[in-house]
Amino acid sequence: MQIIDGKAVADEIKKEIALEVAEIKASGGKTPHLVAILVGNNGASETYVANKVKSCEELGFNSSLLRFDPSITESELLAEVKKVNDNDDMDGLIVQLPLPDHINPDKVMETIDPRKDVDGFHPINIGRMAKGLPAYISATPQGVLDLLERYNIETSGKHCVVVGRSQIVGLPMSILMQRNTKIGNCTVTLTHSKTKDLPAVCATADILIAALGRPEFITAEYVKEGAVVIDVGLTRVEDSSKKSGFALKGDVKFDEVAPKCSFITPVPKGVGPMTIVSLMKNTLLSAKGVIYSK
Ligand code: GUN
Repeated sequence: MQIIDGKAVADEIKKEIALEVAEIKASGGKTPHLVAILVGNNGASETYVANKVKSCEELGFNSSLLRFDPSITESELLAEVKKVNDNDDMDGLIVQLPLPDHINPDKVMETIDPRKDVDGFHPINIGRMAKGLPAYISATPQGVLDLLERYNIETSGKHCVVVGRSQIVGLPMSILMQRNTKIGNCTVTLTHSKTKDLPAVCATADILIAALGRPEFITAEYVKEGAVVIDVGLTRVEDSSKKSGFALKGDVKFDEVAPKCSFITPVPKGVGPMTIVSLMKNTLLSAKGVIYSK
């Protein structure tokens, strides 16, 4: 059994990006600029956005954090998104989710210019991804693809079971794993809360991707001997022994599942660190005009 070290891979890719950005700057090119919009003060969102801004600093990107009170109206927020759309210096825009209940996230996502949608949540980017056209691919699924690639894990012809059909992870993950690409060509089963006999379905997976957001849900009975297990879950659970008052738990019960696997991602330091790296990669692609020409 090999533990997939997401932190090490993420650090390696970060170095590659930082080097490229330094070269771009030295030759007078465009410094990538990521904008994050944060509405309200959800604790987890605060942490995620702070980490994204910190990564920008580390990699030599410019960043802008636009914070708004939770009382902002939907139309006011859409107007702020449009301002970023119209600002040529700003290459990428993310609006951190979840948003307050009175704001429709789909409306917000659809207002972001697809050419700046580095989260890959706009229907145009999701549609282009499904068709195999150049598109921003959402950060977590892209991070999983990069981990599989860097560990030389064969995916072609394998049965991949994805648990969870979220728009951010499960759905795009299932589309990506069946594409005719180097990491792809799987036979994919997308499972969800209505799937019958989930343990038996999961136990047929060569590659099991858990993205349902329920801590330690996937136990040994869900896993075939020799499977590759990718744990996308990251849930805060109360833990009074920690200074922060919480611990981060994955969707996989690591101690009992790991001995059955050929490869497994831990939590933390598995998929998590890859997510920000993918966002940075997308922002760099935007600044370079790779996906959509400028
Ligand atoms: N909330 C949880 N994950 C994400 C993400 O990847 N992007 C945005 N914008 N919000 C999130």
